[in-house]
Amino acid sequence: MKITFRLVVSLVLVVALVAIGSSFYQVGEEKARLTSELERRAIILAESLQESVVPLIGSDSPKRLNRIVQRFGNRARLQGIAVYDLHGRALASTSDLGPQVPETAPQVAKALTEGGPEGSYVRAGDQRLYVFSIPLVDKDETVGALTLFHDASYIDVRLEEIWKHNLIRFLILSVMVVAITLVVVRWSITGPIAQMAGWIKELHTGKTKAVKPAVLPKMDPVLDPLISEVNRMAKSLAVARARAEDASGLNVRPESPWTARRLKEQMRAELDGKKLVLVSNREPYMHEKDGPGIRCIVPAGGLVTALDPVMRACDGLWIAHGSGDADRETVDGNDTLRVPPGEPAYTLKRVWLTREEEDGYYYGFANEGLWPLCHITHNRPEFRLEDWTYYRKVNEKFADALLTEIAGEESPLVLVQDYHLALLPSLIKEKRPDAKVAIFWHIPWPNPEAYGICPWRQEILQGMLGSDIIGFHIQFHCNNFLETVDRFLESKIDWEQFSVTRGGHSTLIKPFPISVGNELSFGGTPSEEWPVKEELLGKIGVRTEYLGVGVDRIDYTKGIPERFRAIERFFEKYPEYLGRFTFVELGAPSRTHIKKYRDLMTEIEEAVEKINWRFQTKTWRPIVFLKAHHTHEAIGPYYKASDLCMVTSLHDGMNLVAKEFVAARDDEDGVLILSQFTGASRELKDALIVNPYDIEQMADAICLSLRMPPAERRARMGRMRANVREHNIYRWAGKLIAELARLRLADGTSTPEAGA
Ligand code: G6P
Repeated sequence: MKITFRLVVSLVLVVALVAIGSSFYQVGEEKARLTSELERRAIILAESLQESVVPLIGSDSPKRLNRIVQRFGNRARLQGIAVYDLHGRALASTSDLGPQVPETAPQVAKALTEGGPEGSYVRAGDQRLYVFSIPLVDKDETVGALTLFHDASYIDVRLEEIWKHNLIRFLILSVMVVAITLVVVRWSITGPIAQMAGWIKELHTGKTKAVKPAVLPKMDPVLDPLISEVNRMAKSLAVARARAEDASGLNVRPESPWTARRLKEQMRAELDGKKLVLVSNREPYMHEKDGPGIRCIVPAGGLVTALDPVMRACDGLWIAHGSGDADRETVDGNDTLRVPPGEPAYTLKRVWLTREEEDGYYYGFANEGLWPLCHITHNRPEFRLEDWTYYRKVNEKFADALLTEIAGEESPLVLVQDYHLALLPSLIKEKRPDAKVAIFWHIPWPNPEAYGICPWRQEILQGMLGSDIIGFHIQFHCNNFLETVDRFLESKIDWEQFSVTRGGHSTLIKPFPISVGNELSFGGTPSEEWPVKEELLGKIGVRTEYLGVGVDRIDYTKGIPERFRAIERFFEKYPEYLGRFTFVELGAPSRTHIKKYRDLMTEIEEAVEKINWRFQTKTWRPIVFLKAHHTHEAIGPYYKASDLCMVTSLHDGMNLVAKEFVAARDDEDGVLILSQFTGASRELKDALIVNPYDIEQMADAICLSLRMPPAERRARMGRMRANVREHNIYRWAGKLIAELARLRLADGTSTPEAGA
């Protein structure tokens, strides 16, 4: 209230000062105008009267003189006229002038003695008069004087009126200023703050757990820092509360569904105080320069989506390449920091790479060699000795960082992730045979023929086989791997146990289909509060009845051009959907340093342009390509608002977009069109399974999705949701870590425990 009062008083004071200043100015101007007008009128009248009066002075006809004076005296605002002789005696005067006329007014005397006109203002009772005298001259001799008496009171009245009007104007303005100030303050400051206070209170008392910045009213940007701080605080509170709940020891039974809490409970038992370390190339949180500040982003890709919830539940150590341009500015002396920002749950340690190392290891060997080698998409892999050298060097660098972190830890558990770090398992085992190591391969494993073209095929297999467990998404990739080992390495393969033994060390090869979290937060806002279809369409400037969505890293394995060709074909085959169906592609640019990826981006943009040009209208477009890195918070509403989601990978280890779409559909609606070449198609059998190379089939699948009866849509989505709910990421991590923790290692070798 104090602020409002101060604001109102200051504004009213300013208005008062302006009003007083401008009134003074206006009154001055008006006074000058009115007096000069009066004085000019007096001169003109006196001069015109002079000619008629002069001949009558000194003649013996005072009556004529009186008549003339009476006739002229009858003017507006003229109080009277008097004619004087040379001695200042009145010869004639208008009758109503009467006693107001002093016999010898000073102005008359002055006009007679000085021989020039003389005027001034005098008071007569409560009246103000303007007395103006001119000498009457006959043949160069002054014979008398003519005096005009004008009533000048109207000038004062006019000036008073101006003051009065300005006072009323000031009062009205002040009332308006006060009212507007009160409304604005209430609307944009006190109201939102009261709402925020209410929400904080709910959080505090535990009535809500939602961190929901989206529902807070629009506030002045001045309050942004406050809002973001409060949000951060709210998230920390939620984390602290969850921890407290966990610590309270609510027992989770083995048969209860897999949740973050069950995983945490299980990890406590399995790890028994041992350290859990996860190593990957891609970091889960990346800091980037953003103008004068730093922003934290969650990189796109299935690996981070899947593993961040696991690490949050287990409070482990995640070692990864620090690739953000502000990453170095946000770590401590040991290159570590607690993440996620604002709700710290685990530790991230960053490994630094030089430009050359990143070029050779990441862009070169991993992404121009192994990536196309493992994905059968008819893109020729490129293998260069220099890249291989950097690949080995960077794997050693990761091994050094990891070994430092686990020094002194007894039998630590290490989860190595993906094709960037194939050599890491054996590098760890050489130095730390007591460490239990698993590598999870997030991408497909090809058949031996396809794999055999890699010049370092044996070294890679040997590197991987340093692990105690090698995990793939599906059995088919496990089979391919075992056949590959069989073809290229001296080893003993147990096709019953699915293990490889070399030099006394055994490795289990098992499928662990990766997934998403159950309570996928999509940024923490409850799904009922997400923007709905109309809002999203308004944002992208399109009017349409049906909406489709695709979410991808822009990668040639994702079948994006094929998807767009299918959309074009759909409109050709089913033109009744023109103007009624729009497909939104949320595409995150990826690996753009590699030419193939840049060319793909151009191809996609050209395809969108071509299809839109062909079909679009003023208010509708068939495809909206939103090329950007989108947060989970931004993606969730599109999943939920869409009638269908298309996942058309030409080859994909699992594809978590398919599972995310299902997890987001708590309305149990929406159709998933899913490529048969994804790992996810093995589990989500209620999707419309398509061959992305078959454009006709995909076009028909779009039509089928839009025409599917609601009951069938719900039934299919319900079954897929049950599957994802049960086979979630906590189950994945629980199974993999339990399997690893229960392995018995003897003399640096491991053997699978019976029944584990
Ligand atoms: C795939 C890989 C991941 C990788 C992700 C994003 O899912 O299996 O290891 O992190 O793509 O790719 P990027 O090259 O940006 O890490």
